[in-house]
Amino acid sequence: MSELLSVSGLSKRFGGLNAVSDLSFSIESGSIVGLIGPNGAGKTTVFNLVCGQQQPTAGEVRFEGRVVNALPPFERVRLGMARTFQSTVLYTDSTVLENVLRGLAARSGPAVWSGVPGLGRWRAYRDDLHRRAFDLLDFVDLRDVHDITARNLPYGHQRSLGVAIALATSPKLLMLDEPVAGMNPAETAQMAQLIRRINQQGTTILVVEHDMSFVMQLCGHIIAVSNGRKLAEGTPDQVQRDPQVIAAYLGDEDVAA
Ligand SMILES: Nc1ncnc2c1ncn2[C@@H]1O[C@H](COP(=O)(O)OP(=O)(O)O)[C@@H](O)[C@H]1O
Ligand SMILES: [Mg+2]
Repeated sequence: MSELLSVSGLSKRFGGLNAVSDLSFSIESGSIVGLIGPNGAGKTTVFNLVCGQQQPTAGEVRFEGRVVNALPPFERVRLGMARTFQSTVLYTDSTVLENVLRGLAARSGPAVWSGVPGLGRWRAYRDDLHRRAFDLLDFVDLRDVHDITARNLPYGHQRSLGVAIALATSPKLLMLDEPVAGMNPAETAQMAQLIRRINQQGTTILVVEHDMSFVMQLCGHIIAVSNGRKLAEGTPDQVQRDPQVIAAYLGDEDVAA
């Protein structure tokens, strides 16, 4: 397997706070990797740095061997990096279908328009986009609700839609920030299954999750962080047994281990 993403010496300071400190890890192509840690450990900040929403104070982010620090988020999306957000971010006044179409445009948009295509080609393009959108909606099981306004979807479906929007950019790496937060057990099981199916199609997954048991079942490799630093890394078994990880989680009552 080859290395898809790596970060080295990654650091982010907010004023006097070291949210991420000298963090290094790499992710193999095809894997499902979990990034775990107590609240405030720096997990979301890592996502922001990797995807370009924030600039690191120090350190490097490499994707397929290329340093991407200087690239804005949309260019990283074009390279195949996609993320979902901890709180659902949808176009809430748009339909499910429109949300996915916007995701599709995020990767293929400007280049398509630059050629000023004739009407026939434009129709072919539009039909192709719709076909791809419905394929995606089938994949995440939302075809039946494609014309519902996003804000009116049940919570679990909103999270699935968030995943579909990210998938619309055909990512090589999909980064999920707390995909099952607030979900009931049935919704959680469905999301786990969806993540596995995405991975089986060849997409590498990096998942941040607070729910230890969810991560332990889903991920082959786990990176544990606390106070912005890496505590431990390895198989779920190794990380679960790590004294530093246990200590970090004992101080964190929110965790349903
Ligand atoms: N934009 C910001 N400005 C200042 N502090 C921040 C900012 N974003 C995050 N932090 C702080 O950085 C630390 C790590 O936050 P975060 O990455 O959101 O943690 P996690 O996702 O692991 O819960 C926290 O102490 C948080 O309060
Ligand atoms: Mg977070």
